[in-house]
Amino acid sequence: MVNSAVVYRCFGEPLMTLQYEHSELGSLAAGNIRVKMRFAPVNASDLIPVTGAYRHRITLPATAGYEGVGVVTEASGDAVALLGQRVLPLRGQGTWQQYVDCPAAFAVAVPTDIDDSLAARAWINPMAALLMLQHFPPAGKQVVVTAAGSDCAGFLAQWARLSGATRVTGIYRSAIHADRLAANGITPLADTATDAIQQAARDAEVVYDATGGALAALLLSAMPRHGQFVSYGLLSGQPFTLRQGQPAVHWFHIRNYLDTLPAAAWQQAFGTIWARLRHSPCAGVSLFGLPQWQDAVRFYQTAGRTTRPVLAMD
Ligand SMILES: NC(=O)c1ccc[n+]([C@@H]2O[C@H](COP(=O)([O-])OP(=O)(O)OC[C@H]3O[C@@H](n4cnc5c(N)ncnc54)[C@H](OP(=O)(O)O)[C@@H]3O)[C@@H](O)[C@H]2O)c1
Repeated sequence: MVNSAVVYRCFGEPLMTLQYEHSELGSLAAGNIRVKMRFAPVNASDLIPVTGAYRHRITLPATAGYEGVGVVTEASGDAVALLGQRVLPLRGQGTWQQYVDCPAAFAVAVPTDIDDSLAARAWINPMAALLMLQHFPPAGKQVVVTAAGSDCAGFLAQWARLSGATRVTGIYRSAIHADRLAANGITPLADTATDAIQQAARDAEVVYDATGGALAALLLSAMPRHGQFVSYGLLSGQPFTLRQGQPAVHWFHIRNYLDTLPAAAWQQAFGTIWARLRHSPCAGVSLFGLPQWQDAVRFYQTAGRTTRPVLAMD
């Protein structure tokens, strides 16, 4: 059987580096299941590794994509119970392909009331938000999130409120996000409103930052010293300098927490994620066929986008 996939054989700018390729499927390794993919989203977390940011950890050639949803078509042993089930095939091969093999223990069954377009996005951003909130709790605190138009910040902001944050401010780049933030109980703030950002930072005990650069420096310069600054992304492409007398900076990356999440705890975490996703407004999707992956990446890179590009495999 032939499989089509979006593959990288070297590191570089995703549109210049990724290639659409076809190859014969091999046999399934013991302990794995094979999943016929339906949807896989385009996330920041899928494109950053292609640039070479984590080159010491990636063996080439590699298939792009970290998450998605599909149906189990091949399994053995205890995993035969999963045949025909809709699952998230996680922590195995890249997901921007028609067939994904993954360890049966980490495949996550999708509840019937969660549709494919939501299920496909249920891992990297929701899990990152959940883990950040567990490790840097917002209860009883004023909180600031940056890149507030992003899915990850959206989950952080909404779930921080659920976890008892007294106020959540969302700093956005494109004004198109402001009304949606306000409707979700988040105080919207433009990233150009320097005075208001400094005031929000003075009151903030936790900041979850995905931008880095000048905005991170501004927030750190105004935050109380006992505050916690959680850095989980660098969307601006610019680093920031750590200065004495400023709050502690915590570097969060989801992979650093996965080793301490055995299969049972992993499955349990998804129980929480499904429960929260059912009640968390999030962006809609724009579908692109897998052969049109370049259009999907270009769409992803458009500023002020309000939907998530998702690759549809059929
Ligand atoms: N550390 C981890 O484990 C982990 C896990 C998951 C996600 N992340 C990070 O979380 C961040 C968001 O990911 P996502 O998938 O949720 O994003 P997303 O939904 O695709 O949204 C991207 C957002 O970033 C904003 N943005 C892009 N470039 C920006 C810049 N230079 N300055 C300010 N804002 C900018 C965009 O604003 P506009 O609307 O103005 O275009 C958009 O709102 C990424 O940095 C990703 O790497 C980290």
